[in-house]
Formats: sequence, C-alpha cells, structure tokens
Amino acid sequence: MKLSKLASEIAESPTLALNEEARLLKERGEAVINLGIGEPRNKTPFSAVLASGARLSSGEVKYTPPDGLPSMKKAVIRYTEENYNRLVAPENVIITNGAKQSLFNIFYSILNPQDEVIVIAPYWVSYPEMIRMCLGIPVVVTPEDGTFIPRFEDIERAISSSTRAIIINSPNNPSGAIYPDSLIEKIVDLCEKKGIFMVCDDIYHKLTFDRNVATPAYAFSKNDIEDSNIIVVNGVAKLYGMTGFRIGWVVAPRELVRVMTNVLAQTTSCVSPIAQAAAEGALNGLQSVVESLRLQIENNRNVLLQEMKSFSGARLIEPQGTFYALPDLRAFNNNSVEISRFLLKKAMVVTVPGREFGMEGHIRISFAGSAPEVTEGLARIRWALDMTSPNEIYIGDRKMIRDWN
Ligand SMILES: Cc1ncc(COP(=O)(O)O)c(C=O)c1O
Repeated sequence: MKLSKLASEIAESPTLALNEEARLLKERGEAVINLGIGEPRNKTPFSAVLASGARLSSGEVKYTPPDGLPSMKKAVIRYTEENYNRLVAPENVIITNGAKQSLFNIFYSILNPQDEVIVIAPYWVSYPEMIRMCLGIPVVVTPEDGTFIPRFEDIERAISSSTRAIIINSPNNPSGAIYPDSLIEKIVDLCEKKGIFMVCDDIYHKLTFDRNVATPAYAFSKNDIEDSNIIVVNGVAKLYGMTGFRIGWVVAPRELVRVMTNVLAQTTSCVSPIAQAAAEGALNGLQSVVESLRLQIENNRNVLLQEMKSFSGARLIEPQGTFYALPDLRAFNNNSVEISRFLLKKAMVVTVPGREFGMEGHIRISFAGSAPEVTEGLARIRWALDMTSPNEIYIGDRKMIRDWN
C-alpha cells in the first residue's frame, strides 16, 4: 500500500502503546501496576459534571464557533487574568481539542518548511513529531549531564536564522523540573530581541511542590499581547484531571489566533459544546479541586522520594512539579527501552523509556496514581534492578524470587 512518506514516518505514541500492552496484561489477570500513565485518578470535578450535564439536557448540541464558545472563552480570559495577571480579549483566545491540538495548530500556523524550533531535552514526546509533521525541524538542546535545566548559552547557541520558536514546558514532563525565573526571563528577552515565538506549554503550571512556583513568561515581558512573542498553551487535562474531555486553549496575539481558527475550522470544525461546557464548569467552579489534586500528587511524590532513598544505583533529581520523575538508571543499563521492557516482563510495572524524551538511560515514572501503587511499583522496580534489595517479592499472590544478577 502506498502511503504518505511523512505520515508513515511519524512514530507511534510510546505512552499509548505501553498503556495498551499493560491493558492486555491486566486482561490476562496479571497484577500490572501502571506507572507509565500521565493521568490523575480523580473523578471529574462536580461543577464540570453539572455544567456538561445541563448542556446535554438542553438538547443544544450543535457546531460551535470554531474558536470556541463565547462563554468558554470568557472563562479562559478570567483564568488568564487571575493566573497570569494579563487582560486579554476574546480574539486572543482559541479553544481546542486538548492542548495537543493547540500545540499542533501552533506549529502548523507558525512554521514554513525547514523552519527550526528549539526543543529542550528532556522533552514531551510529541513535540518533535508535531514539528516534523508541520515540515519543521526540531533542534534539541540538552542540559549538562546530571541536570534537567538547560544552560541559557546553549539555547542561545542553538538559534539560527531559521529559528521560529522555542518551546518551554515548565514544570516539565518528564523530569518534573521547574526552570528558574532567571532562565525564563532570559529566554523571554532573547525571543523578543530575535523575533522568535516562545511557546509556553503550561499544562502543569499549578502542579508544583514545596511552595515552588512556575512564574509565567508574561511576568517578564512588558509588551502588549498584540506585540508579544509569547504563546501560552493550557488546558483542563492535568490540573482538573479531565483528560477525556479533550479541552485545551491558546492565548496569543489575535493574528495568530485568526490563522489557527481557520486551521481548526478546516480540520475539526470546532470543539464539542458538551466538553466546552464541562471545562467552563471546571474553570468557573470551586478551585479547591485543583489544590486537593495537587496535595494528593505532592504526597505521592513524597512517597516516591522515600522509596527512592533505598534504591542503590538509581540517581534521581527531585521533581518539583508535574506527576513524573525521571530517575537515571545508567548504573543498570544504558538502554532505557531494554530497562522498561525488563520491568514490564519481570516486575509487571509499566514505565516509559527515557529515550522517547531525549534522555537515554532514564525511565519516566508517573506518580499520578495512588500512593500504594507508587510504593508497590517502586518496590518491584527495586527488586528487579537493585541486587542489594531483598530477592523475594509478592507480585499479586505469586511469590517471586530474583534469580538473575
Ligand atoms: C507537556 C504536555 N503538553 C501537552 C499535553 C497534552 O494535553 P491534552 O491532554 O490537553 O491534549 C500533555 C499530555 O500528556 C503534556 O504532558
């Protein structure tokens, strides 16, 4: 079969592939623990359930304006004012099918063939693929070994006459790192001087620990939104645990929003009004739901740190936000795909190989689930890899003995 070369070269989403593998194992009755998935287990906030239920019972479920329902945009404007201290107009906002579509449409709308986008490792797996799909070139900047914070000089050095954008994701998936204010300030300044877009993927911006704050890029720019190089991406998937509703949004200069609106209109027409109503309900409802989710995730992070203390050989930089940790397991194996496969086969634990995020020798562990899952999952990983740990363990009701070294 003759298919598009470009489309055929797009990599399968490794997280989704691993989740599928885990689902099949579970179906076979295996005691699988999924530490691969980036999804909190909370129930949908009640205000979101009520708002989407009301929309559904109204029977008014039709196409919406391609850039989003006016009331949903209003909720985003208020969110932006409260969380970013920026007053923006409805023309600066577009609602999308998840933050994923926001990002794809941004790249599609700003890139010409062969334009470059600077991506900082470790990076979210989809960035390089999306950039390639839009005929751009991802240029990866990797921090010094043993850190997850890039050096500003390395970012500066990666800029060429073809650079169109830098994508910043802080708090970062997969490392949990928060970039320091001084670095964000310098990047804002650099982008303004060079006329480069700074795409801020803020999807985890309130999931921070130990009173750390991810200061928004806007705080370092005096430019009016229309003259701003900053593009902010956000959504309800992570902070409200509403992954299945598929709602994201972009705040950007109106010229970009206009182009993105045409792209969205010609590809998906609009976003479901039921999902938009749910997101609106979440944004306008009690915000304590975000704080309680954050507290639960911070507790899970603390459980993980406790478990990691007795894991000889693994090196971990403490996550300051998100629900991911990216331990360095090069003491056991440099090949992260082999490590993840080994952990699934021997310990029935799903993790994601760091190679997918541009950090070979590391694995991503999600602590979005429950504390007992984190404890047991880590105990199994230690049992499989760390020869100083006890060599017997129960996996489900089976007693397992480690017979390898
Ligand atoms: C860094 C980052 N950006 C964007 C997304 C996509 O969010 P959504 O589910 O709203 O499409 C994710 C989801 O895993 C993510 O980790």
